[in-house]
Order: sequence, then structure tokens, then C-alpha cells
Amino acid sequence: MRRRQPLASLILLALVAAACSPAPTTTTATSPDVSTSSATTTTTTSANAAQSSTVGAAGIGDEYYPTLGNGGYDVEHYDLDLFYDPDDNTLDAAVIITAVATQDLTAFNLDFTGFDIVDLRVGDLPAMFERNAGELTITPEVPIASGERFEVTIAYAGNPTASSSPAFDRVAIGWREGPDGEQYIVAEPDAAHTWFPSNDHPLDKATFSFIVTVPDGYAVGATGEFLGIEPGHQVGETLSYTWEMSTPMAPYLATIVIGEGYQLVEDPVSSEAAGIPVRNFLPADLVANPPDALDDTGEMLTVLEEAFGPYPFDRYGITVVGGFPAALENQTFSVFGRVIVDSPFFEFVLVHELAHQWFGNSVSVAQWSDIWLNEGFATYSELLWIEHRQGRAVYDQVVADRRQAASTAGYAPPGLPPPTDLFNGGVYQLGGLLLADLRVEIGDDAFFTLLRTYAAQFAHGNATTQDFIAIAEDISGQDLDEFFQVRLYEPL
Ligand code: TRP
Ligand code: ZN
Repeated sequence: MRRRQPLASLILLALVAAACSPAPTTTTATSPDVSTSSATTTTTTSANAAQSSTVGAAGIGDEYYPTLGNGGYDVEHYDLDLFYDPDDNTLDAAVIITAVATQDLTAFNLDFTGFDIVDLRVGDLPAMFERNAGELTITPEVPIASGERFEVTIAYAGNPTASSSPAFDRVAIGWREGPDGEQYIVAEPDAAHTWFPSNDHPLDKATFSFIVTVPDGYAVGATGEFLGIEPGHQVGETLSYTWEMSTPMAPYLATIVIGEGYQLVEDPVSSEAAGIPVRNFLPADLVANPPDALDDTGEMLTVLEEAFGPYPFDRYGITVVGGFPAALENQTFSVFGRVIVDSPFFEFVLVHELAHQWFGNSVSVAQWSDIWLNEGFATYSELLWIEHRQGRAVYDQVVADRRQAASTAGYAPPGLPPPTDLFNGGVYQLGGLLLADLRVEIGDDAFFTLLRTYAAQFAHGNATTQDFIAIAEDISGQDLDEFFQVRLYEPL
């Protein structure tokens, strides 16, 4: 029986909070967070002469997380070549970053924590580097000129781990392991750089290649398109899986999933309905017995396209992992914890993560403090799905129920999320209710034109709250400053 689900997101959050035991992973002595070393003894020091104007900034300018991202260059492509050995839980990685300098650079930073760096080159030449907390500072042998395209090759090894994030008070994000040995990464907002060196901020999107080598019997899923399997280049019985993300992606939305007996399975009904391939990467028991709501993916895609405009990517699918009671909207490849799939509100989390493909993944925040632009919109999509399936009266009732629940919850205003609890209930519930109110305020026509215009205008880019307000005022012809001021920044 299908009943309305007013509190799916609240339950999701509660589950995340319940998962707040220490991460099941440990830090090893071989992955110091602070170290200074060089991959080579033949480099000379040229950094002494560096002027500050030729040193790339250690942060990209995020108000909440000032050390995330870096300045002085734009990444075009990440080439991740990874060998994962489940026997000793080690990752052996070679990453090639192709970037374009946006200023003259005698030195620049990447974000990176953990692992031992065994080789680091800029172009063909070994480069000096230094590590300090999450910052990897690289001094190339030859300075890079503004506008120059350059390649950084970094080989590293060690045990991948989850870690604490400043954005969550308790839960560990990053590389995680499920109860059946499945490996997966959930990196929002700041854990991309705990598994590959990166310009870890949504302001710098790039394309990605993933070549992941695993022992025979394990399968690999990843964000993007599956290109094929080849015999692995490692010793022993290994296979290399290649995946490609050819649409720019924020580093935090990249993931790989490694699982024994996992399979990539086409959903022909959803693919047909949506006009794009819909393929899910599932453990054997779910391949045999797919969860019911998964069949709705195609219909959800058509409902959200109607509301938001064309789906922004060329494919979609989900994966299911154990040991994590949440879901995350990795680009074209959302990951769901097993408990979410088994819960009665799976359907609503499914539509929520799908909506993030427009709001979060295609249109990304420029500042993490604007996270309501992701979570409020995805939460509102749950209401659109309820309206589609159950009609306007049920939609109105659910909005009223959620408003009632929010009135006593003590949420932070959605435009002012605490930096240490970024994904608090306010950005979800109050953000979603803001959109429900806005629809009433400006009318259905203006409201859906606004959503489609905003999604189209900032597709594959970044937007701010001010950008959204400006389009809302433009399309409605109304002055909405007071409307947004009250709902975004003032306590209930
Ligand atoms: N964006 C997720 C959602 O759909 C919430 C989230 C943020 C998350 N960071 C995460 C989930 C890390 C899992 C792991 O609401
Ligand atoms: Zn969300």
C-alpha cells in the first residue's frame, strides 16, 4: 500500500545521526597527515625565489571551508588508475591530473590526505612537494606560465580509510567498507581528497577516467559510463574495469564501488521510459530480487524532466552498499545504504537522489554555505513525486505536516547552516518548504519556468542563492527580497 511519507528526509537524517559511531576503519602509521618529503633526491630548490603572486592559493575561497580547493589553475581531467587489493586492504594508485594554469605558477597546491606518495612529477620532471594537513604543495622544476596546460602525475599507496569531516559532527565519510567487504566512497562535501589528490571543491569540475584493477571475482562500478573489462596488469588473476565520466563533475561526486559478485544490470523499462540507459550496479541478492521501487526510476525521470527540464546527463543508475544508513547522489550513480533500500521510504530517497542530478550535480553550489540549493530542491522533489502519484490534496497535506513538524524542530535557518553540521534538517525541510511557499507566492507557471530556467542557465556550472533569487524576481516580476530574507536567514 502506498501512503504518504511526510518525513522521509527526517528519517534519513536520523539514520545518518544513528550511524555516528566511530568509522570501522583505522588510520595506519604509513599515512601521516603531516609530512615533508620529496619523491626524488635530484630536484633543485627554486621555490626560494618565488613571489607570492606566483604561488597558487591554498584555498579556492569557500567561506565555510577555506582550505578546500586551491587557486591558480583549473583541472580539466582526472585520470585515476587504481589497484585495490582486498587481501591487505591496500590501494596502489597512479593519478594524472591535467590542468590549465590561470596565473604564473612557481608553486601550487592540491588537496590530499593520507597514503604515501611514491612519485610525483609535473610533466616529465620529478617535482618537490611538501605535505601539511590536507594540503599538498608542489614546486615544479620549471615554473608554469599562465594559460599553460600541464600534467601532474602522482603515484601513491596505502590503506584507504574513512575520516572525520568538519562538516559532520560525528559520521565518517570517504572510503568505506560494507559488511560483505564491499568498498565504496561517499565524499560530500570534502572527502574526495582522502582518496585522490584533487582540487576538492565544486567550483572546479573536470572529466574523469577510472581504471580500477581488482582480483577476479570482484566487480567495479563507478560514476559515468562503463567501457569494458581487460585482463589486469597486476600479478595474479586480476581484471581492470574502465569507466569514463565525460561530463564535468565536482570531485566530491566521484565514486567507485568494488564488490564481490556485484553486477551491472540494465533496467529496460526505465531506460525506455527515460530515453537514456538506466543501469544499476547491484549485489547478487538484489540482482535476483530487485527492490520494487527501483522500477519507478524511469517514471521519476519523466516527472522530474517535466518539472526541471531535460535530465542533464547521458545515463543514470544506482548502487546499493551495506554499512551506511544514508544515500548520496554521486554523478549518474547514486549510492544507497542497504537500510534505506529496505525501508518504506526508499521510493522518496530514490526521487531525492535523482533530483540532485539537476540540483547539486549539474547546478552545483559555489559556496558550501548555499547547500540548501541542493538539499531544499531535492527535498521538494519528494513533494512533486507525491503530487504526481497521489494528487494535489495529498501534496498539500504533506506540506502542512512537514511545516508542523518543522515548527518545533529547532532547525537552523536554511541559509545559515552550521559549518560543523552542514546537512542539518533546516537545509532539507525548511529549504523544501521555502520552495513550496515560493510556488504559492509566484504561481505554478512562474515557479516551474523558474526551476527550468535556473537548471538550464547554470547547467554544469555553479550557482549562488543570489543567482536563484535574481531569476525568481525576473520571471515573476515580483520583489522577493523580503520573502527570501525571512525564510533563508531568520529563525522560525
Ligand atoms: N547529499 C546527501 C543527501 O542526499 C546527504 C549527504 C551529504 C551524505 N554528505 C554525505 C550522505 C555523505 C552520505 C555520505 O541528502
Ligand atoms: Zn540530498
